[in-house]
Amino acid sequence: MTQPPIPAHALPVVARAPGKCILFGEHAVVRGQPEVLLAIDLYTQVAIRPSPEWRLNGHAGPVADHRYLQTAIREVWTTGTPLDVTAVSRIPKASGMGSSAAFVSGLVAAMGAVQGGVDRATLAQQVFTIEREAQGVGSPGDTSAAIAGGYLTLNTDVAAVGEALWTVTAGEERWTVRRIADPGWVWVVAYSGLPKATGPKVQAVGERFSSWEGPDLLRRFSEVAVAGLRAMAQEDRTETGRLLEENQRLLREVGVSHPRLEALIEATQPAAVGAKVTGAGGGGSIVALPKPGQETDLVRRLARAGAVPFATGPAARGVELV
Ligand code: MEV
Repeated sequence: MTQPPIPAHALPVVARAPGKCILFGEHAVVRGQPEVLLAIDLYTQVAIRPSPEWRLNGHAGPVADHRYLQTAIREVWTTGTPLDVTAVSRIPKASGMGSSAAFVSGLVAAMGAVQGGVDRATLAQQVFTIEREAQGVGSPGDTSAAIAGGYLTLNTDVAAVGEALWTVTAGEERWTVRRIADPGWVWVVAYSGLPKATGPKVQAVGERFSSWEGPDLLRRFSEVAVAGLRAMAQEDRTETGRLLEENQRLLREVGVSHPRLEALIEATQPAAVGAKVTGAGGGGSIVALPKPGQETDLVRRLARAGAVPFATGPAARGVELV
């Protein structure tokens, strides 16, 4: 389904963008390998209004230190008029569910609306450039999910599949983003309560990828993601679950799991066909694919284990004005 562009709109503007959950290929996607992810139905809503000075959630103080806002002002806000930016989010911060990508996508879509409207491919590049500049590292998976909604894959031109949405670049690096079919499943994402820091984790894993064992690790990440994509296309839940577990073994090997996340993965049994860390790891969240009809039991098990679980389907639409 092709998403309409963000239309022109005068101030004040309110936009909302969904979070994301990575199923296969996080970290390796930064090195151009395949990734499979979906936008989830937890949203960040961003409102922008005229203001005598720049404000964030009603206060001028936090504006100067907010890297994402500062970068967005510099990169896309050509009118120069100060704004009052208000963000309300249901996505836990630093949870691996894409809260920063959703914030920047909502903000830049709202700014784009005021500046005459913006198409999604342009938005995908702008938002990724801002995230990458503010964070220093990363791929356009999270930002593309917030902008496109639904299920997506990156870098699977060979194995794939659906409509090509856009290609996003950073210097010499490029990532192609495609839409893939919705297998029709409910996923359970559970936040451990341990915040994670994406930048340092991506850097540490990047060092492993640059070492002698890097090529073999990247090949194994890629194989699991492509096999996962195929299993999902065939709506093969059992095989998808097995591959989630295989992806988790790789994430453990590159050091982004955590005893608390392992305990949550264990707590998903026997209600899930598979579970893994989702996102940068080291904290953050896990994702589990429930056995048919066991969604509620799975949520209960994870809550009992001390996590904050969400049963989620895909957010069908990406960022939009509200
Ligand atoms: C973070 O959500 C996913 C990583 O692969 C980093 C990125 O792709 O930007 C760890």
